Amino acid sequence: MLDRLPESALEPSHFTHRHGPVPTPGPGEALVRTVLLSVDPANRAWMNGPTYRPQLVAGDVMAAYALAEVVDPGKSALAPGSVVFCDTGWQEYAAIPAATAMPVPIQTALTHHLSTLGLTGMTAYFGLLEIGAPAPGETVVVSAAAGATGNVVGQIARIKGARVVGISSSDAKRRMLEDELGFDATVSHRSPTFKEDLAAACPDGIDVYFDNVGGDILNFCMRLLNERGRVVCCGGLSSYDQPAPPVDAAMVPLKIVTHRLRMEGFIVLDYMSEWPAAGAEMAAWIDSGELRVLEDVIDGLEQAPTALIGLLAGENLGKRMVRVGPDPVPV
Ligand SMILES: NC(=O)c1ccc[n+]([C@@H]2O[C@H](COP(=O)([O-])OP(=O)(O)OC[C@H]3O[C@@H](n4cnc5c(N)ncnc54)[C@H](OP(=O)(O)O)[C@@H]3O)[C@@H](O)[C@H]2O)c1
Repeated sequence: MLDRLPESALEPSHFTHRHGPVPTPGPGEALVRTVLLSVDPANRAWMNGPTYRPQLVAGDVMAAYALAEVVDPGKSALAPGSVVFCDTGWQEYAAIPAATAMPVPIQTALTHHLSTLGLTGMTAYFGLLEIGAPAPGETVVVSAAAGATGNVVGQIARIKGARVVGISSSDAKRRMLEDELGFDATVSHRSPTFKEDLAAACPDGIDVYFDNVGGDILNFCMRLLNERGRVVCCGGLSSYDQPAPPVDAAMVPLKIVTHRLRMEGFIVLDYMSEWPAAGAEMAAWIDSGELRVLEDVIDGLEQAPTALIGLLAGENLGKRMVRVGPDPVPV
């Protein structure tokens, strides 16, 4: 559970591990067993204030999305033994409102339903295609490019015929993006020559910037945007693990006007009814080899705090998740 709220960077000491009985589901609830926990930068943002959900407070079970097995559906229509996507929090068993559980028809490895075919893959798909709408030959830049959302954004942009530039950190991540996922170029946001490098990697400017980080990187990408460019506002993770969000002084509103730019935010949960169709298209790309799945699975619920802290520090390559229990036996 979240023992106390962080005032600056998150540390393992902000959490405590408690043992308790398996909960008994109340009216309208179902009992589920957590199989795979999603580790998301948003977990940290939820501690800072209200977002699309109320702020977490000290004493809360640490909230997190997960794939879970239905143990006792209560009076709901959920099938015992089936897999649902829901908020179990960091728990082995959870009593959840049955109406909030989304059944997941298993088509492939369970982990894929939490990565490319799960929330972050859907975020990439809808954010890029609905808001960014890249045309063939346009330049798409994505930050946190080797992460769960970013790697899928870059690969879908490539499938759609765009020129793809990824912003990441280490040489190993950048090599993987270029050599294995088909990114046209990558730059490191840690390099002292980041701005020059990004400008050189985008000789024709930027048409779509898929923003996962906000802050200075967003500000600099704004400078390189072409007329009628689009900024997909997906997240601002550069400020999540900070005492107070830094002031983004240099945003250039005049450029939004003169260049007829679009910046648009979205929450992937708004598209939930369309996930099955998107999942089918992405599964076909995976089967054909056009879309590679990148996953980073850590074993053991007790590892959840360090898994989240490490994600915020950039340890992960692809979608980070924590395995809490074995896959359910297929029903
Ligand atoms: N709008 C929605 O519905 C929605 C849904 C899901 C996620 N999101 C957002 O999408 C973004 C990406 O989430 P994710 O789950 O895919 O995480 P992720 O990219 O798998 O993991 C975070 C990555 O961010 C990079 N990073 C960390 N600090 C950074 C900084 N200060 N500047 C630049 N990069 C930094 C690190 O990679 P490097 O080593 O390359 O720096 C790290 O691996 C987040 O902002 C999240 O809130 C939005």
